[in-house]
Amino acid sequence: MEAMVLWTIVFRLILDINNLWDRKLNSFELNKIFMALLLTVLILMGINGLTGAIFEDEHMASNAFPIEVETETVVAVDVVVEQGPSLADLLAVASVEKGHKVFKKCKACHTPDNGGKNLVGPNLWNIVGRTKGALDSFSYSSAMKAKGGEWTYDDLDAFLKKPGKFIAKTKMSFAGLKKAGDRAAIIAMLRTLSDAPVDFPAVEAAVVDAAAEVSGDVSEEMSEASENEHQ
Ligand code: HEC
Repeated sequence: MEAMVLWTIVFRLILDINNLWDRKLNSFELNKIFMALLLTVLILMGINGLTGAIFEDEHMASNAFPIEVETETVVAVDVVVEQGPSLADLLAVASVEKGHKVFKKCKACHTPDNGGKNLVGPNLWNIVGRTKGALDSFSYSSAMKAKGGEWTYDDLDAFLKKPGKFIAKTKMSFAGLKKAGDRAAIIAMLRTLSDAPVDFPAVEAAVVDAAAEVSGDVSEEMSEASENEHQ
């Protein structure tokens, strides 16, 4: 603040000197100007010292009202914020309804219903826990057949993130779902395609709230995205 005032004054003075110079100032006028300049500097230095004296730094000895925080919960939430929630956390709060929206991206190639026919891709009834490439009625790529094992939640997540990375040379030509929240939603929806849905992996209760927040953000984005699609 003082610095600004000082600079304004100095600037003003330089302008004045310039003017006076033009008017062929005499040494008396010049003296006056320097005196004025010196005075301003002295005054400003005085103000500076004064304010320092009046408003002496009052360091607070301690919080007047200490805020008690349960450190354990905070740590858990911090971890979630930094690393992003795990698949288990996201699944625990995933919305099947949102999963149906995401499934619009799969519909061209997959039917979800029991006894539904194969399209470009195989029918997905009972997909969670099903052996990879198991339907006799569908002709899978040899890469899919060779992958082996069952479709666990983790495998589905990895496959749907980037099919061609999880199974190089898969026939499923689909870019993948980049958002972890979208994948959790579709996986939660795929889980319902069964008479005996497979249990989700267990989660620590402390992180579920934080995960809900994250997936809440994602679902807002999703509904915006799908609104845009309809325009
Ligand atoms: C362009 C068509 C296409 C799209 C879009 C597509 N898929 Fe596929 N999907 C396939 C094909 C083809 C296969 C068989 C892959 C192979 O044999 O390598 C497959 C295989 C799968 C499998 C493994 C099935 C099994 O029996 O082992 C799953 C699970 C799957 N898709 C889920 C999805 C989901 C979920 C989506 C949407 C997010 C999706 N797919 C989008 C074509 C598609």
